[in-house]
Amino acid sequence: MRPLTAVLTRGFDPALSVGSARPAVFRSSTYVFTSPEAAERAFAIAGGRSQAMPGEHVDLIYSRFNHPNAEILEDQIVPLEKGAKAAVVFNSGMAAIMTSILAFARPGDRIVYTVPLYGGTQHLIHEFLEPFGIRGTAVRAGRGAELVEAIEKTENLRVVLIETPANPTLMMTDIRQAVEAAGRCGSRPLVMVDNTFLGPTFQHPLALGADVCLYSGTKYLGGFSDMLSGVALTADASLVKTIKARRGLFGNILQPDECWMLDSRLPTVNLRMNKASKNAQRIAERLAGHAQVEKIHYPSLFEDADQIRIRDAQCDYPGAMMSLELRGGKPAAFDFLRRLRLARNAVSLGGVETLVCHPKSTTHSSVSAEELEIAGVTDGLVRMSIGIEDWRDLLGDFEQALG
Ligand SMILES: Cc1ncc(COP(=O)(O)O)c(C=O)c1O
Repeated sequence: MRPLTAVLTRGFDPALSVGSARPAVFRSSTYVFTSPEAAERAFAIAGGRSQAMPGEHVDLIYSRFNHPNAEILEDQIVPLEKGAKAAVVFNSGMAAIMTSILAFARPGDRIVYTVPLYGGTQHLIHEFLEPFGIRGTAVRAGRGAELVEAIEKTENLRVVLIETPANPTLMMTDIRQAVEAAGRCGSRPLVMVDNTFLGPTFQHPLALGADVCLYSGTKYLGGFSDMLSGVALTADASLVKTIKARRGLFGNILQPDECWMLDSRLPTVNLRMNKASKNAQRIAERLAGHAQVEKIHYPSLFEDADQIRIRDAQCDYPGAMMSLELRGGKPAAFDFLRRLRLARNAVSLGGVETLVCHPKSTTHSSVSAEELEIAGVTDGLVRMSIGIEDWRDLLGDFEQALG
């Protein structure tokens, strides 16, 4: 079955939702066991002391561990991510990132990560993981040789965290190259890729050999800026088991209502992303020559040969995220935001509506000035998440705001 069919047909049995064509919402926090023996068996499997037999019916236990809407969503999202065998859903993208890292890394382990990185993730590394004893090494996106060296030379390396394209400069990292470097390590670190900007439609990290594909489901998967969620997908189902065990301890599973909402958004994610990407490409190509725009960061307009190589090797389409560096620094950026009439000045991205923000003073404000400079997050940089409106209206709005 192809992905667009699978997403609408697998993982859901109408007979279990009193014949309803779409899944019911199961709001129960706890589940009645079919027998004390079945309860014992369910706990043995949940605790990792036993394995479910193929086709075995295992009783549900308690909604912090698992519930029907999470099971349906996890089953239906798998075919959207090429190479995925299993998924685990969380109540935010940060929860997905934190839980996946802490499922495998212990104090004393090291993590190598690319920069720029979503400000919240970088803050998580500095404010929590490092004081906890998991030290991080930052490598600039686009510096392939430096990333390979960091992977090969860092002792006790447990996780390589790649965000590509990077938020907010769209710099790309070669996933396959990182996977190959990880494979040369004595004890192979896990390669985790935050695929929020281009997945699941235009980039497939698991098919390139990555171990964990991470999402802020709040963005394109959710698609309407009305819910938070996070997802981790893996090609090796045993990794998901380990992550789920941590999720059960942390208590950050996505709630039934949100699972149901996200589930209903999955069949349209390809339609929404394709439309938004076409819009963005038209807009980016027209804004590129604008007198007020010093530089535009957008995959179809890359000039660096290595960035073009990575784009062509791992991305199907350029996507709908872009950043403009405006002449005149922060005042010019703030003026631009103030003058927008259709696009909204808000953080977040991936919704059907166009959102624009100034990363240095918002999403990346917790990152040090030095790190921002290294990562290329400048005063004049505005990040745009292009939606599915008529692109001509959006272009008109940007041109009048620039003018
Ligand atoms: C690339 C990226 N990863 C992760 C996150 C965090 O996701 P959430 O806000 O759903 O926790 C964000 C949020 O903006 C993001 O842009």
